Amino acid sequence: MCGIFCVLTLSSAPFEWDKTVYEHLRRRGPNSSQDVPVKGACYQCLFSAHVLHMRGFLTPQPIQDSAGNILLWNGEVFEGLPVKPGENDTAVVSQRLMSCNSSSEILALLSAIHGPWGFVYYQKAGEYLWFGRDYFGRRSLLWKFDAEVKALTLTSVGAHVSGHDQSNWQEVPAAGVYRIDLKAATEAGSVSFEIYPWDHAGNSISSCIEAILESVPSGCNAVMNQSGLKLTSLVCPLNMSIPESINETEIHTNSHFSGKELEELLASKEQMYEVDHLIAVLSDAVRRRVQALPLRVQDHSPLTPDDASVAVLFSGGIDSMILAALADRHIPAHQSIDLLNVAFKLQEPRKQNKSAKKPPKHKNKPTDSERDVADSRTFSPFDVPDRITGKAGLKELQNMNPERTWNFVEINISQEELQKMRLERISHLVHPLCTVLDDSIGCAVWFAARGTGYIMEDDSQRPFTSSAKVILTGIGADEQLAGYSRHRVRFKTSGHEGLIQELAMELGRISSRNLGRDDRVIADHGKEARFPYLDEDVVSYLNSLPVWKKADLSLPRGVGEKLLLRLTAKQLGLSKSAILPKRAMQFGSRIAKMEDTHEKASDKCTRLLTG
Ligand SMILES: *[C@@H]1O[C@H](CO)[C@@H](O)[C@H](O)[C@H]1NC(C)=O
Ligand SMILES: *[C@@H]1O[C@H](CO)[C@@H](O)[C@H](O)[C@H]1NC(C)=O
Ligand SMILES: *[C@@H]1O[C@H](CO)[C@@H](O)[C@H](O)[C@H]1NC(C)=O
Ligand SMILES: *[C@@H]1O[C@H](CO)[C@@H](O)[C@H](O)[C@H]1NC(C)=O
Ligand SMILES: *[C@@H]1O[C@H](CO)[C@@H](O)[C@H](O)[C@H]1NC(C)=O
Ligand SMILES: *[C@@H]1O[C@H](CO)[C@@H](O)[C@H](O)[C@H]1NC(C)=O
Ligand SMILES: *[C@@H]1O[C@H](CO)[C@@H](O)[C@H](O)[C@H]1NC(C)=O
Ligand SMILES: *[C@@H]1O[C@H](CO)[C@@H](O)[C@H](O)[C@H]1NC(C)=O
Repeated sequence: MCGIFCVLTLSSAPFEWDKTVYEHLRRRGPNSSQDVPVKGACYQCLFSAHVLHMRGFLTPQPIQDSAGNILLWNGEVFEGLPVKPGENDTAVVSQRLMSCNSSSEILALLSAIHGPWGFVYYQKAGEYLWFGRDYFGRRSLLWKFDAEVKALTLTSVGAHVSGHDQSNWQEVPAAGVYRIDLKAATEAGSVSFEIYPWDHAGNSISSCIEAILESVPSGCNAVMNQSGLKLTSLVCPLNMSIPESINETEIHTNSHFSGKELEELLASKEQMYEVDHLIAVLSDAVRRRVQALPLRVQDHSPLTPDDASVAVLFSGGIDSMILAALADRHIPAHQSIDLLNVAFKLQEPRKQNKSAKKPPKHKNKPTDSERDVADSRTFSPFDVPDRITGKAGLKELQNMNPERTWNFVEINISQEELQKMRLERISHLVHPLCTVLDDSIGCAVWFAARGTGYIMEDDSQRPFTSSAKVILTGIGADEQLAGYSRHRVRFKTSGHEGLIQELAMELGRISSRNLGRDDRVIADHGKEARFPYLDEDVVSYLNSLPVWKKADLSLPRGVGEKLLLRLTAKQLGLSKSAILPKRAMQFGSRIAKMEDTHEKASDKCTRLLTG
């Protein structure tokens, strides 16, 4: 993981660092920082890279090759290009780019890479500046243009200016890669991006360019390359088939089911072939993301249970349970795994009065098993829904592999700390996104990823901070397997056809809704977010399946949504977590409860704008 930054100036105005942006970049890449300036006839560039050391030997960036090309690479090559053991993927990408003789070769190279990336590449021959993000947009890249000094800036992370509800930062759309002809830009005195789009099956080029034009910084323009050159995605298109008939008598969405009934219902479903196939591809995706990582063994001191190399953002829900269970397969048993569980303090203590207990405000009813756990304990203000399911999930994992040390990190956050850190850091990272939902998720993910909390040891609490550099997150499961309640609504109103459209649309916008933000927020701790559900092979497999194999929304909550994943969880030996209904992080962690309950998730969040 790196913080990458490039500014292209068409005037002779000297460049001055925005100290806040520089500090944010340093936090992403604490292990090495370097700047490389380039002077053209009438333009100047500054390349700045901040590297987090993950595996192999540290490879400082920017990488300048023998031909004078410069690469800023914020990515991981999990597969697709041969990277020999001991070799560094950044160096390999740089060498391969150097040997490319044409634009189409550069595009073919980028298309072949399995893994997340954001990059900037100065191609000396011809004087071109290339940049862009991977197909899903798993790494953040922002741009802005300052018309006064004619400067275009590209950066992993920006900063929000207090008091302004808009700065000029925007996310670079993950719709393709972009090329600037620096000589032409100098002549014209303005910046024009040539777009090489991802080959989105189904999506027309015109809708792609429309999306891009909306985000192009004012003062710049973008043109589609007329040669028709494209990036070829490794991801196969979504299966649009619709079942011939649905069994109306089986629709039982509205009835209430006990945990036992849900278990029985799940047991009656069988999709062995798909389950085994999904386990195979998902397990591989997790393996690629957890293997060959450095432990903190620089000083050769023996490994302790506190030295995990991998952590999971852990709510105890099915997505995170499956990731933890699969990580268990690939991480040697003597190494610990950190489970990061965040809770925001409940405003008023909940009454321990069963008869007076009000049903929860949000739509997700707790299942019986959840209630059992809740009622058997004394309440703490941090016993939020995700803490309760997290503890239950921990038990299941401990049963599954008692040899392993599972560090269940209870991350308790007070209102005061939330406000302080939002102001100091999180508002900058979430930016340029700005809704109430972005605020809730951004804050919850930031505190979870920081990994500072307590672990329980023999009934006493010990302060603990996770040292894991890799954080697995379950994002992408709900979007692909119809986990959100809006999927039910859509299914009810417009059937399978509507549901498929909704899923296609959501996967298409996941970069701008979630991934850029989550990458910026997690990387702020010098840690790297990895998304197994968004592995190219996993998405391809799920895309190939007809929608009714992934979810059956005629079945009740807790079974129907993400049905295939529930069956997978069962097959992996998980039981209670297999039938937990989806609870969005802002509700599960109760961060949404801390704030004005009248605001809508899509409203602009005023808390992000002050300070
Ligand atoms: C990288 O930087 C982090 C944070 O400063 C530090 O804890 C870690 O030891 C460094 N790693 C290496 C390999 O220098
Ligand atoms: C290459 O080096 C960078 C920086 O040290 C590091 O983040 C990355 O994980 C390394 N990759 C490999 C394959 O060694
Ligand atoms: C580019 O051209 C050189 C010299 O003709 C050749 O050796 C090299 O293989 C070419 N690169 C690619 C990626 O085809
Ligand atoms: C399209 O791309 C090709 C290859 O990079 C380049 O030679 C050509 O000039 C581009 N055309 C336009 C109109 O930008
Ligand atoms: C519909 O479901 C019911 C209950 O499972 C079953 O008895 C019936 O045979 C099904 N009908 C069709 C046409 O599959
Ligand atoms: C519990 O709630 C019931 C109904 O609201 C009330 O009558 C009773 O006094 C409460 N008990 C306690 C211990 O608060
Ligand atoms: C953290 O929250 C848990 C409830 O899940 C509670 O048991 C524990 O005492 C809290 N620890 C601290 C230090 O607040
Ligand atoms: C979509 O699913 C149907 C039903 O399983 C299958 O027959 C068809 O081949 C699939 N289509 C694609 C493009 O994978």
